[in-house]
Amino acid sequence: MRSKTGDSDRFRIRPYQPDDLDDLCRICLQTADNGQDATSLFRDPKLPGYVYVAPYVTLEPSLAFVAEDRSGLGGYIVGALDTRAFEQRLERDWWPALRARYAEPSQDQADELSRPEQYAIHDVHHRWSIADDLARCFPSHLHINLIPRLQGRGIGRRLIETITSSLRNQGSPGLHLLVGFSNKRAAGFYRHVGFTEFPAASLHIFTMDLPTQAPKAGVYGR
Ligand SMILES: CC(C)(COP(=O)(O)OP(=O)(O)OC[C@H]1O[C@@H](n2cnc3c(N)ncnc32)[C@H](O)[C@@H]1OP(=O)(O)O)[C@@H](O)C(=O)NCCC(=O)NCCS
Repeated sequence: MRSKTGDSDRFRIRPYQPDDLDDLCRICLQTADNGQDATSLFRDPKLPGYVYVAPYVTLEPSLAFVAEDRSGLGGYIVGALDTRAFEQRLERDWWPALRARYAEPSQDQADELSRPEQYAIHDVHHRWSIADDLARCFPSHLHINLIPRLQGRGIGRRLIETITSSLRNQGSPGLHLLVGFSNKRAAGFYRHVGFTEFPAASLHIFTMDLPTQAPKAGVYGR
């Protein structure tokens, strides 16, 4: 697969393999501060990966894809086909071990942590359930992250196309994703590649229908 700018800028998108996990956790850390590097913001550099990427590649490996160029692996997209069912599996098979490993801090202890670390530990301990209308019409969801070297080269678009094709093949009628209000770059990207904003108060929620028919040119914003 080639980027728009030529041979020196070649990249490849391929399915996730178990050996990729450490790289994915590194990428997750390097983008965990609303898309920016959070390396200095976590006491345990593995924490964001354990929360935001490892459960997906472990429980839904058929919806995990990575992007690499000649310098190595630098991006991924992961998803869950049925968010409600995924949440139940996390509650049963994933969060208990993490809750034992990362104790919930007292208010005073939490005040000492960075905002991204507070959010990650909160997500470990508190089940987050999507609204019924979102679960019904857009049951799937995704996370996408590229380190700066791979950004702005058309790879994000290709990763979205890759996972939406897989979700369609697996019978999903639609997907949603969540974006912090301060991640303006990501919000602009999602609008541009064809997502629609769903009303929400505390963060952006974007949705996309996944019609069974192959979409005509233009559905991704060209
Ligand atoms: C956000 C992100 C996934 C976008 O991926 P990308 O590879 O940089 O984007 P692409 O190069 O594929 O851009 C695809 C299209 O979107 C457009 N686009 C990208 N960012 C845009 C923005 N902020 N506003 C408007 N259009 C934008 C591009 O111009 C391009 O348009 P075209 O295909 O019509 O020429 C990537 O930058 C990233 O991972 N950022 C850091 C982590 C992050 O924030 N993840 C999302 C967390 S919710």
